[in-house]
Amino acid sequence: MALQLVVLAAGEGTRMLSDRPKVLHEVAHAPLLHHALRAGLALGPARVALVVGHGGAAVGAAAREIVPEAAVVTQEERLGTAHAVSVALPEIAGAGGDTLVLYADTPFLREETLSAMQAARAQHDVVVLGFEAADPGRYGRLVQAADGTLERIVEWKDATEAERAVRLCNSGVICCATALLEELLPQIGNANASGEYYLTDIVGLARAGGLSCGVVRCDEAETLGVNSRADLARAEAAFQARARAGALETGATLTAPETVHFAHDTVLGRDVEVEPMVVFGPGVTVETGARIRAFSHLEGCHVSAGAVIGPYARLRPGAEIGEDARIGNFVEVKAAEIGAGAKVNHLTYIGDAEVGAGANIGAGTVTCNYDGVSKHRTVIGERAFIGSDTMLVAPVRVGAEAVTGSGSVVTRDVEAGALALGRARQETRPGLGRRLMERLRAARAERG
Ligand code: UD1
Ligand code: MG
Repeated sequence: MALQLVVLAAGEGTRMLSDRPKVLHEVAHAPLLHHALRAGLALGPARVALVVGHGGAAVGAAAREIVPEAAVVTQEERLGTAHAVSVALPEIAGAGGDTLVLYADTPFLREETLSAMQAARAQHDVVVLGFEAADPGRYGRLVQAADGTLERIVEWKDATEAERAVRLCNSGVICCATALLEELLPQIGNANASGEYYLTDIVGLARAGGLSCGVVRCDEAETLGVNSRADLARAEAAFQARARAGALETGATLTAPETVHFAHDTVLGRDVEVEPMVVFGPGVTVETGARIRAFSHLEGCHVSAGAVIGPYARLRPGAEIGEDARIGNFVEVKAAEIGAGAKVNHLTYIGDAEVGAGANIGAGTVTCNYDGVSKHRTVIGERAFIGSDTMLVAPVRVGAEAVTGSGSVVTRDVEAGALALGRARQETRPGLGRRLMERLRAARAERG
């Protein structure tokens, strides 16, 4: 059955004390909004409507980056969750099927949970996602009938002491026929303790109309909402814990899992080994059997099977590391292909470059890629040997099996098999070193 998705993001997020809209704060290098949409989008909705608040242009733009066809509607006045959904109603009205309402600040809902809600629609007209709260606090409470069906939802402010004692809480996620939403939303009033239009009132209204309402339960961790910086930090920790467990489950070795930081989209193959203190930024894939050694930082890169990265390596966006290649300590690689078996082992910058298979890049080599205005490419052929401390002033090409002398500044192309030397010739003056030192020491003794 067709599904419409309504995502509420009009909240002000005051408790974040931020100039940035709350749902654009990031967990694992992706905005909360991205996480919140993930499970809903996995169900393949026909339409997606996002409700943003006043000044929500940035949120809307971020949503369209994730779902280009999303409708972004503005709720000028924040009059409650039912009001927010009614603002989105024109975008889904008549689309039929079911509508699922989600919050944009709830990042961890699982696709399986939402599927279970869809499945429960076979038994109930309205399905609400509930959870047993360790500390129910101010959540809305789910009041069940004797047969376990849902009778109504009562907001904390409006609840009696007996109702507040209920531990089963409302997550806010709700699913029903789009047509039913169209019918019931206009009937919701605001005569309650907050003077708000509560979406939760839809349950009581449906029951009064002889319809059936049910609860699908999930773990409290899944409904974790983010309202403060502390919540954001907790959400990050929860994400990292799951990502580490996931990596172990899929056959990666993490010697100190709690010190490895993942991004939302990190992919590790089987038998990948990750040493302590490694940070993955967004867009990293590491293939089978590669080894990421301690204190390395990787983002936007691809590491092929059998490669060894680090310790203390930095792979930046566009780094493509070939099979069995070696990237050693204090090496930075950006927008560069490193061929199979090539070695870049020490203190080197390779940017906007191509390094052929089996090439050896000596310590301290720099591809001088930037002239202050534009970037230029360096191309190094297969099995080339770049001597230590070579400055490759791009654009420049070094052919296959060519050699550059240590300390060379290479400004012109080097043909295959050639030796390029670009450095001052050495002069040696016998005895002058010792005499110079003696003179300096004598001068100091005189000064006292
Ligand atoms: C809501 C539920 C409560 C539930 C809790 C779970 C209602 C009436 N109450 O309460 O039962 O336990 O969530 O976290 O639905 N929003 C708008 N426009 C508005 C109001 C809210 O877009 O006018 C959005 C917010 O940005 C947020 C979500 O709706 O993403 C929930 O709003 P919030 O104010 O946090 O509702 P609660 O009072 O926490
Ligand atoms: Mg809330």
